[in-house]
Amino acid sequence: MIGVADAMRMLSEAGAIIIVVANETGGISRRSLLTSGGIAALGTALAGCAPGEQVGPDRVADAVRPVAPMGEHQAGISRPAAVQPHLILGVHDVDGDPASVLARIGESIVRLTSGEHPALAGIAPGDLSMTVGVGPRLMRQVDADGPGTEPLPAFPREDVDERHRGGDLVIQVCASDPLVPALALAGVIDDVPELVERWRQCGTRGPSVEVHGTHSAPRNVLGFVDGIAAPLTDDELAESVWIRHRATAGASILVVRRMEIDLAAFRRLPVAGQEGVIGRERASSAPLSGGEIGDDVDLQAKSPDGSYMIPVDAHVRRAHPRPAGVPLMLRRSYSMDDPLGLLFVSYQAELRTFTQTMERMSESDALLDFTRTTATGTFLALPGFDAQHPLGSTIFGAS
Ligand code: HEM
Repeated sequence: MIGVADAMRMLSEAGAIIIVVANETGGISRRSLLTSGGIAALGTALAGCAPGEQVGPDRVADAVRPVAPMGEHQAGISRPAAVQPHLILGVHDVDGDPASVLARIGESIVRLTSGEHPALAGIAPGDLSMTVGVGPRLMRQVDADGPGTEPLPAFPREDVDERHRGGDLVIQVCASDPLVPALALAGVIDDVPELVERWRQCGTRGPSVEVHGTHSAPRNVLGFVDGIAAPLTDDELAESVWIRHRATAGASILVVRRMEIDLAAFRRLPVAGQEGVIGRERASSAPLSGGEIGDDVDLQAKSPDGSYMIPVDAHVRRAHPRPAGVPLMLRRSYSMDDPLGLLFVSYQAELRTFTQTMERMSESDALLDFTRTTATGTFLALPGFDAQHPLGSTIFGAS
């Protein structure tokens, strides 16, 4: 028999995402790990208890899918496909050697996601994922103008304290268990005292609505489904999300914006008015140009009176990638209750995908009239890592 932690590490190193069902003892044989049943048993052991604890059949309901922290890309960007409902995102400065800091963050992530870290207080990590990005100041130390070196410019409707603009390092922590993200972030901070916190934000996502096939997306605080248009296939992700540039291959550009929303003002609009602001029906999420939730919006469609069915200042028109001349970004946003609004998070291969979209929105997006952005930053979400290649080592070297 091997321990749960060892088994988890074997699967992590193989880049596996595992599906879980019940096991009576919590023990796992090396041979049974190679079978689907063995993989399932491991997942249940992780879901239901701290490492080493015995799991009984009564814990079947706790089954979750662990997310391998290692691989070509970091977890928490394109996987898991079913985005976890709870998030905490922390932005920090780094007071120390980036190579050493990142390597130790990677080690913390492996211990946290395998349930071995004391910061989790014995709570199962479940589908915990932790994604780390490095800010422009540190990226410029290794390459003056490579990916991730450009800061995010200021845009209209910002009200940002300087501590909430930019920063050296972001950690996006997501999990299904609402207790896990804050504990996991605390675990990393315990292990890496060189992290100096700037700001943090919690977020949640409601139940997902099916868009098509395996793609689903949740409603946001406005009541509209958010995250419908998204790159999903490997080819789409390769075109839109992943950087292919030398040392940063496998990385992505992360943008985060804390957007407070004047919900009372938005709600004062009749539903048809709200739908005009977004460009989709609220109940069905279908584009106002017709079709169903999974259909692309038709920006050319006109009513018999000659007006555009998607209003000229509708959010989906102003944010649409085609007129902006950019690929589709991967959005992974979370609703916030304090402050009320949206923690907008997007991943893209180039910063201009975000900036050109934001510029077009700033010209005349009706949705922006209800928003005030109070924190903002861009970071290079590092390439994936494994046991031989510590987090950040392709860029900052081994510590
Ligand atoms: C308060 C902030 C925001 C809210 C509540 C919001 C909400 C929405 C909703 C409901 C949709 C339609 C459904 C969908 O395709 O997901 C949408 C689409 C979209 N949003 Fe936002 N959004 C916000 C900010 C942003 C920002 C800052 C950007 C990027 C600069 C952005 C980029 C997009 C894009 C690219 C689409 C897809 C357009 C398409 O191809 O149909 N959004 N958003």
